[in-house]
Amino acid sequence: MTADSTNDVKDTVTNGAPSGANGQSQLPTEEDMTLLQLQQRYAEEAAKRIRADGPTQFLDLTDADTDRFKAIAEDPWADHAALNAKETVKDGAAYKFLFLGGGYGGLIFTVRLIQAGLINVPDDVRLVDAAGGFGGTWYWNRYPGLHCDVESYIYMPLLEETVYMPKQKYAPGTELREHADRIATQFDLHDKALFRSNAKAATWDEEEKLWTVQVTEGRGPNEPSRELTLKCQYLLVASGVLNVPHVPKIPGLEGFGGEMFHTARWNYSATGGSYENPDMEKLKDKRVGIIGTGATSIQVIPQLAKWAKELYVFQRTPSAVHPRDQKATDPEEWKSKIASKKGWQMERALNFAAHMSLAAKEGEENLTRIPAYSALIGSPGYGLVEPTPEAIGANVARLYKMDTPTAETARARVDQIVKDPETANKLKAWYPSWCKRPTFSDMYLQAFNEPNVHLIDTNGQGIEAATKDGLVFAGKECPVDVLVLSTGYRSPAFGNGNPAAKTGIEVIGRGGLSMDEKWKNIGSATLHGVATSGFPNLFFAFGPQTAATANFVTMLEVGIQHTAHILAKAEEKVGAGSRAVVEVTREEEEAWTMQVMMRAPYFATIMGCTPGYLNGEGHSARQDPKDMMKASRSSGWSEGMLSYIKVLEEYRSEGSLKGIEVTAAYK
Ligand SMILES: Cc1cc2nc3c(=O)[nH]c(=O)nc-3n(C[C@H](O)[C@H](O)[C@H](O)COP(=O)(O)OP(=O)(O)OC[C@H]3O[C@@H](n4cnc5c(N)ncnc54)[C@H](O)[C@@H]3O)c2cc1C
Ligand SMILES: NC(=O)c1ccc[n+]([C@@H]2O[C@H](COP(=O)([O-])OP(=O)(O)OC[C@H]3O[C@@H](n4cnc5c(N)ncnc54)[C@H](OP(=O)(O)O)[C@@H]3O)[C@@H](O)[C@H]2O)c1
Repeated sequence: MTADSTNDVKDTVTNGAPSGANGQSQLPTEEDMTLLQLQQRYAEEAAKRIRADGPTQFLDLTDADTDRFKAIAEDPWADHAALNAKETVKDGAAYKFLFLGGGYGGLIFTVRLIQAGLINVPDDVRLVDAAGGFGGTWYWNRYPGLHCDVESYIYMPLLEETVYMPKQKYAPGTELREHADRIATQFDLHDKALFRSNAKAATWDEEEKLWTVQVTEGRGPNEPSRELTLKCQYLLVASGVLNVPHVPKIPGLEGFGGEMFHTARWNYSATGGSYENPDMEKLKDKRVGIIGTGATSIQVIPQLAKWAKELYVFQRTPSAVHPRDQKATDPEEWKSKIASKKGWQMERALNFAAHMSLAAKEGEENLTRIPAYSALIGSPGYGLVEPTPEAIGANVARLYKMDTPTAETARARVDQIVKDPETANKLKAWYPSWCKRPTFSDMYLQAFNEPNVHLIDTNGQGIEAATKDGLVFAGKECPVDVLVLSTGYRSPAFGNGNPAAKTGIEVIGRGGLSMDEKWKNIGSATLHGVATSGFPNLFFAFGPQTAATANFVTMLEVGIQHTAHILAKAEEKVGAGSRAVVEVTREEEEAWTMQVMMRAPYFATIMGCTPGYLNGEGHSARQDPKDMMKASRSSGWSEGMLSYIKVLEEYRSEGSLKGIEVTAAYK
């Protein structure tokens, strides 16, 4: 996303309601008819793409049971010798805080608890991650062209604490990963992380009032893995959203004879070059195929186009591509305007969040390039939508109307840039802006003017099959030597928001209650999205039932700072003589869930989207009513981030930790 909204973009859009939305019957205007035609076109394009197998059309690489896919899922980056020489945890040891995940979420979580005075002793804390280093997303992803899509000034966490000025408005992957290491260095976390380690299970021990966590530590190709048992008072889950790479179950794909890899595990030995210097010399005499045209491909394709002899882009659904406008950070502007006062980063992030959800302060112009993205992240002005077809229909119509200028500008931009009209037509996105992550590039569309770049548009159908020599579409084989799978990740909505399912661990709470079972029976149930009853001392960096914005780091910060407050209060209550046991009550989590469910109809627009990870590949709307009801429990906060923060602040200032029971493990 773009953070230009904070300052320099001036394209406002009328947020008008559709004719007739006030309940009075009016004749449709010409504008209404054009809008209906557009909706019709969008619906036809979406229908083309709906498949009977829905979300099961993909295979999670971490679940692969064949050697080829298993090898593709392996960590290409871990320095096994160096990591094997380190002993950061002892089997059977107990820690006060155990964090699952060492990405930006795990790092922010650790730092905010340090700052809250909760982590004092070095031995209080350990972080466990399947990766071989810090960074999460920015550890695993090292594909050429990788950048953040939100401005780095608000995307890179803890810039005030680290006193770091990002080099560019949108930081490249190298800088984003280095920043994770910078945070770890500054807060002395390098010796507190157990890398290459998968947490498999966590069980609450009622006697000891501790969590027992089972971990498998991989030790590289030359040493056997180790099974470890770790204990902790608090288990903090920061296991991410888009980190299980998946591939479509294309018949014959595993038998492809050339090099094949997923973008989340870039294979520089196949392409040449390196993460730091992606000169992909080895592709100079190669025919390269890439499957997918999502946010990743928009960044990768211009890079591949520079090096490949021929590049074949296999497209199922085009992305909407907006201008990027990358620029170097001006140190003067940084000092005087951006990082000019204490607390600037959160203020700037919240300003961005406000604009994204059309919640600018009174008198302030709404400055967002994509106002209808508020369909996905909520907006205070249109908060509660009644669960009636009329109210939902009026909300949908309002958002379509709001989005039309943005969507049309993006389609017109394709015609302005792509010289071949047939190719240009195929690159146009026919769905509203909120259905897929909008993308930003000043190089992607331009790449299709290069003679070595060929668009193979599958008209929404996807690849039919793979052979030893290439990919097949419409009965025709397209031979390629190297195949890049830019096919995305398991949906963040996996498991109906169940944090255990998303983390791939079995979590057993009080009285043998399994988190999977709880979610299966009732669906999501949390207090403010940070914890669930029956699972004491377990908190999520990013749970269901929270607010969203386009900057994921803001979402992490807001939830984590709320948890830090709860834990600080709880620790204070119990005092130094014992260990606190903190658990939300069933009653209060149900009350919060009801608040969330009341807001769910707002998000009905997503159901009708072109298939993608946001709407269960188009199957969300086809669930039976019972499942739909359950799904609505994991909905977001429809009034946007600032409204959610206000609710949390009011809760905190009330001061009693209402709905949270705090007891002492022993007297
Ligand atoms: C290519 C890409 C680009 C992105 N760009 C942006 C962007 O520009 N702006 C934006 O807002 N968001 C972006 N995102 C979303 C991004 O994931 C978040 O912004 C953010 O980095 C998430 O941080 P996290 O720490 O919560 O999760 P992650 O970065 O995913 O880290 C979670 C870590 O937990 C580990 N883990 C998970 N389960 C287990 C387990 N059972 N045992 C041990 N370890 C486990 C994983 O290995 C991982 O390292 C992008 C995502 C992708 C894939
Ligand atoms: N910083 C950034 O700019 C940035 C960069 C990368 C990723 N991200 C984040 O990560 C998310 C995932 O992005 P992603 O691009 O990796 O994944 P993605 O958006 O899920 O894209 C996967 C692509 O693979 C295509 N595909 C899947 N199966 C196919 C088949 N059988 N045949 C042909 N094509 C097929 C999909 O087509 P369909 O669309 O038809 O399904 C889609 O184009 C983004 O939404 C964003 O949140 C952000």
